[in-house]
Amino acid sequence: MNCFSLLCSLGFLLKEAQAWGFKNGIFHNSIWLEQAAGVYHRESRKGRYQLTFKEAKAVCKYEGGKLATHEQLEAARQIGFHVCAAGWFDRGHVGYPIVKPGANCGFGKIGVVDYGVRRNKSERWDVYCYNPDSKECGGTLTDPQRIIQSPGFPEEYQDEQICYWHIRVRLGQRIQLLFQEFDLEEDSGCLADYLEVYDSYDDVSGFAGRYCGDYLPDDIISTGNVMTLKFLSDASVTAGGFRLQYVTFDASLFSQNQSHYFH
Ligand SMILES: *[C@@H]1O[C@H](CO)[C@@H](O)[C@H](O)[C@H]1NC(C)=O
Ligand SMILES: *[C@@H]1O[C@H](CO)[C@@H](O)[C@H](O)[C@H]1NC(C)=O
Repeated sequence: MNCFSLLCSLGFLLKEAQAWGFKNGIFHNSIWLEQAAGVYHRESRKGRYQLTFKEAKAVCKYEGGKLATHEQLEAARQIGFHVCAAGWFDRGHVGYPIVKPGANCGFGKIGVVDYGVRRNKSERWDVYCYNPDSKECGGTLTDPQRIIQSPGFPEEYQDEQICYWHIRVRLGQRIQLLFQEFDLEEDSGCLADYLEVYDSYDDVSGFAGRYCGDYLPDDIISTGNVMTLKFLSDASVTAGGFRLQYVTFDASLFSQNQSHYFH
């Protein structure tokens, strides 16, 4: 799988995250924890360490948030937010939150590693944003059913969007995605604009499909109680967008046989 996602930076944490394991039936990693305190890590869609201070601020603002303050980062860290990637935060500081000391990350220290105020705001790092409110573009969804749609739907979506929806329902439930409308810029590899679905709580594992064009995808059913949707649009050409509903049902109602429904 190509690793160009915002959350790829967490990929190398996976080993550690796996050690954290499942809790309450969900994969207990920093992607989940980040939501709890409203603090989250973002990198450029070009990859790690590509954002100037100005661009970093724009990334947070775009999603309706702000650069996280040191206090917010520390509050998130105290409930387990651990990311081994340096990012801009409030007032031109650069740093990252460390929960578990590691040789390759945080110099063996625990806490918010702070490189201090950077004089050179053209340096390129990731970013830590703060936004406690749910956003139209992505969010964490725990309701038994919900509508998910591209930002602005039924108006055309904008260029340069990236949204993550993390769905987490009760343990023992499964999630079914029912597509209602679908119209994204079409190209053969879905490289420009796409919706990706993951049978997982992140976009690192459990890839289930990538969709573009105007062909309505078949229903998709999760194997567990979590799912992730990622919507990305590039710098040109937009289209009508998408709308889907997810519903949940008891895993026990579903025979093994039908589980191959998955794409
Ligand atoms: C500031 O950082 C950028 C990117 O690392 C670098 O190209 C530039 O030379 C730096 N400017 C100064 C004055 O150090
Ligand atoms: C799967 O389907 C076949 C026939 O449709 C049935 O005989 C079998 O018992 C089913 N297995 C399970 C695990 O439901």
